[in-house]
This record gives sequence, C-alpha cells and structure tokens, in this order.
Amino acid sequence: MAISIKSEREIDLMRESCRLLAMMHEELKKDIKPGVSTKELNDHAAEIIASYGCVSNFLNYNGYPASICTSVNDEVVHGIPRADRILKDGDIISIDAGLIYKGYHSDAARTYAVGQISPEHQKLIDVTKQSFFEGIKFAKAGCHLFDISNAIDAYVSQYGYGIVRALVGHGIGTSMHEDPQIPNFRQWRRGPKLKAGMTLAIEPMINLGTDVVCFLDDDWTVVSEDGTYSAHYENTVLITDGEPEILTLL
Ligand code: CO
Repeated sequence: MAISIKSEREIDLMRESCRLLAMMHEELKKDIKPGVSTKELNDHAAEIIASYGCVSNFLNYNGYPASICTSVNDEVVHGIPRADRILKDGDIISIDAGLIYKGYHSDAARTYAVGQISPEHQKLIDVTKQSFFEGIKFAKAGCHLFDISNAIDAYVSQYGYGIVRALVGHGIGTSMHEDPQIPNFRQWRRGPKLKAGMTLAIEPMINLGTDVVCFLDDDWTVVSEDGTYSAHYENTVLITDGEPEILTLL
C-alpha cells in the first residue's frame, strides 16, 4: 500500500479542485426544499460543474449514471437521482459530489434537512458532522491513520448509532480513490503514519439504527438494513505538519 505524497504544485491543483467543489455544494444547498426532485438537483450540479470547466468524477465511474449521489432518508450513499424522487418535508438528503480540475479530484458530502425534520434526525446529522471533526483532530503528520478511525468511532459510539463498516474513506488525488482505505470504526492497530502532502477523503456514514447495509435492485443505492435514516459527511483534507487543511470547505 503506497500513499501518494503530493508536491506543492499538486497541492495547489487539489486546493483549486476542492474549492470549486465547495462552491458547488454551497450553490446546490439553496435548492434543497420540499418539491424538488433529486434529478433536478443532479442537473443543477452538472450545470455548475460544467460552468467551472470541470467534469464530475462520479459520472460513468464503474458505470454510475449520474453526476452526483442523492441519498434520501434510509439511503446511506450512492442514491441515483430520479425525476420521480421528490423531496418532502421531514426528509433528510445526503448530497455526495466530486469533480476533476486539471486532472485532480475532489470529493465531499453533506446531509441536509428538508423543511422541518425530527430532533432525532437533526441529532444524527449533527453527530455525523461532528464525528468528522473529531476524526481530523488526528489528521496531522506524526499521527497514524487509524487514530482518525478510532476517534470517529469513540465519538459516534457514545450515541449508540450504527457506524457503516461496508464503506470507507480513501486517499484521493489523480484518481478519486487512492490508497489508503480509511475505516470509520475502531481498528486494532494504528495503521500507517501520516505525512505532510497526503490528501485524504474522510467520510463517516452513520445510521440511526443498525450498521448493516444492503444494496437496492439498481445495484447502486446502499440502504440501512433496518430502514432507519442515515447521514454522511465528507471532506477532502490535506495533511500538513500542523493542523489539517480542509480543502472542500470555503
Ligand atoms: Co469519497
């Protein structure tokens, strides 16, 4: 397993790819309301990405048929946008997106409330987001990769939520998925040492109930087995000798 170390030039390209993706998310967020279809969200995202002169790295990835993933309620990740999937009050939706700028990939996800949601679901969204920030306290040179995993697990476990184990975070750079894999659950070793210049996509996926997931018949959509709601929060992060740089936040 080789974790790539980006040069200063590559880091600048990663920064720009990620900045554009963060802007895309900020723009798309404004569309989230009851009555909008996930297809409309996808088409708007595609338009924004094209306006940057970039392309989606999701589109055609292993045959994936859309520019972003839109995962609603019990859908964990990889929900395929559809014209007949209309958001309604009380839903939660995870938008996962990425783009390629001059050969460099970015990847980030957020979960949003649609209209008024239950306090229970808001807490799930908040804990999932905070677990990312707990994890990246260890995203710095000198720490080990699985310190991040263990911190996410320790934080989320206090709430009794299910930490999805079937899917993990990843290195990112000239491909969307590079080494290493980054689990969001407890590991029994510390893993590789982190070094400045690594770029990692850290992405806790957390279910209100069981951590067990299954695939729908479309072969993409991952859902929680017990039908409880699921949240996702992801950023592309640069490891430095000091604090991590969260590249996909403005
Ligand atoms: Co990712």
